[in-house]
Amino acid sequence: MYMNAKGEGPAVIQDTAEAQDCCDGLVRSLAETGWCLTDGFLPPDLVAALRGEALELRRSGGFHRAGIGRGQGLQIRGDIRGDEVLWLGPGACSPAQGDFLGRIEALRQAINRDLYLGLFEFEGHLAVYPPGTFYQRHLDRFRGVEARTVTCVCYLNDTWEAADGGQLRIYADPADPQAGTDVLPLGGRLVTFLSADYPHEVLPARRERVSVTGWLKRRPGSD
Ligand code: OGA
Ligand code: MN
Repeated sequence: MYMNAKGEGPAVIQDTAEAQDCCDGLVRSLAETGWCLTDGFLPPDLVAALRGEALELRRSGGFHRAGIGRGQGLQIRGDIRGDEVLWLGPGACSPAQGDFLGRIEALRQAINRDLYLGLFEFEGHLAVYPPGTFYQRHLDRFRGVEARTVTCVCYLNDTWEAADGGQLRIYADPADPQAGTDVLPLGGRLVTFLSADYPHEVLPARRERVSVTGWLKRRPGSD
């Protein structure tokens, strides 16, 4: 639970006009191709604030190893995924996290307005991939998480080059399931895709790789 030095929280989630503009193009592209890459979704100062908080929270023991599966079947499998995560909310969040969630809220509303997906909620986590870790090819929607409809991955890294590894490899061509497109985890960049349709993986990172990843969900059974 985040409280600032004065013990205040939670932050108010704002729906800004700037965020609205950014969403329109994104929604169009999501409708046309099912996935979208948006550079500058977050401004550099917000990227730096979220990254700083994530690294501090991890240093102070707030993160845990991400698992595979759900409930009783939850397993820690470093051979499948090596990231460490901290779920956001639903309680108080920092002002920077509130700003991020406000932008995602504007996106949720824009998608619902234009695509009628009936998205009602966002669940997400901060994620750190320590050097040498990866996440093998997978789908984000599987048994137990059928409500996940649109995946949103936003990168919080300062700089990033191909030699740093850690690319998101997304398999976006149903006609050629082995043909991946590699995306560098550049700060402020948002990748969105339909959770049920796009297998993807995170290639081994050679540097600490920071992101915030989450899912816009609809109510189960609302097809
Ligand atoms: C995930 C995931 C991709 C990325 O957390 O499910 O696939 O680029 N993340 O961090
Ligand atoms: Mn994934």
